[in-house]
Amino acid sequence: MNKAIALAAMSLFAGANADLQTCSTTSGYSCASSSTTPTCCFNYPGGALLQTQFWDTSPSTGPSTSWTIHGLWPDNCDGTYESSCDSTRAYTNITDILQSQGRDDLIDYMDEYWVDIDGDNESFWAHEWGKHGTCINTIDPDCYEGYTAQQEVGDFFEKVVDLFKGLDTYKALAAAGITPSTSKTYTLSAIQAALTKMHGASVYLGCSSGKLNQVWYFYNVQGNVIDGSYKAVKTLTNSGCPSTGIKYVPK
Ligand SMILES: *[C@@H]1O[C@H](CO)[C@@H](O)[C@H](O)[C@H]1NC(C)=O
Ligand SMILES: *[C@@H]1O[C@H](CO)[C@@H](O)[C@H](O)[C@H]1NC(C)=O
Repeated sequence: MNKAIALAAMSLFAGANADLQTCSTTSGYSCASSSTTPTCCFNYPGGALLQTQFWDTSPSTGPSTSWTIHGLWPDNCDGTYESSCDSTRAYTNITDILQSQGRDDLIDYMDEYWVDIDGDNESFWAHEWGKHGTCINTIDPDCYEGYTAQQEVGDFFEKVVDLFKGLDTYKALAAAGITPSTSKTYTLSAIQAALTKMHGASVYLGCSSGKLNQVWYFYNVQGNVIDGSYKAVKTLTNSGCPSTGIKYVPK
């Protein structure tokens, strides 16, 4: 790539969220800091951010060798959370919004990895945005300089996908010999150890009828949720799986 093209590509990339104000590091990490004031550089009260994933097998969704995205949820640092924080921004046209922002590659990725169990991805995305995304105070429209319509919506979806790409649950489990099987069972401690190794902190694991089907990765963030620095923190919620005999069934 020649230099001019490289520079053009870089400025295009930076343009995606160049309008969120730059945050200094003095505010500290969300949840860990004594501050209880929400600002554009401090996530509050939802100071814990959870990247949540599914392993859906009945019916199966997404690729057979990948978990799928559930969302990114702000949590009040204690397992409780606010929801549906701004009905005026509870948009239902997520695909149109992303398209209008030139985020077509993001839509393609979401169509493969952020899929609804009933095939209604659009409603699922709108639900995740309206219920959880609108509660993230650091992407309030007021936090942008030169705000353009629904900019925070595109930034939110792109950030969730970026975080998900760094949390390959399927691969982390497979590396520990934990692979989908119709006959084998696994212990909660083995699954927890494999994912703690990847994430750097313990995770929430969810089961339904003894079958592993959810994982939540917890973070604290310094700065805003888009450009801020993410630190893995231990789960705030006890796992909903039995300690032994856990099934991890193929898609
Ligand atoms: C999405 O819906 C909102 C609210 O109805 C509307 O203001 C906005 O123009 C729509 N965006 C696009 C890109 O269609
Ligand atoms: C949702 O995603 C699935 C699975 O990738 C895809 O086949 C389907 O067409 C999408 N549905 C809608 C309504 O976009």
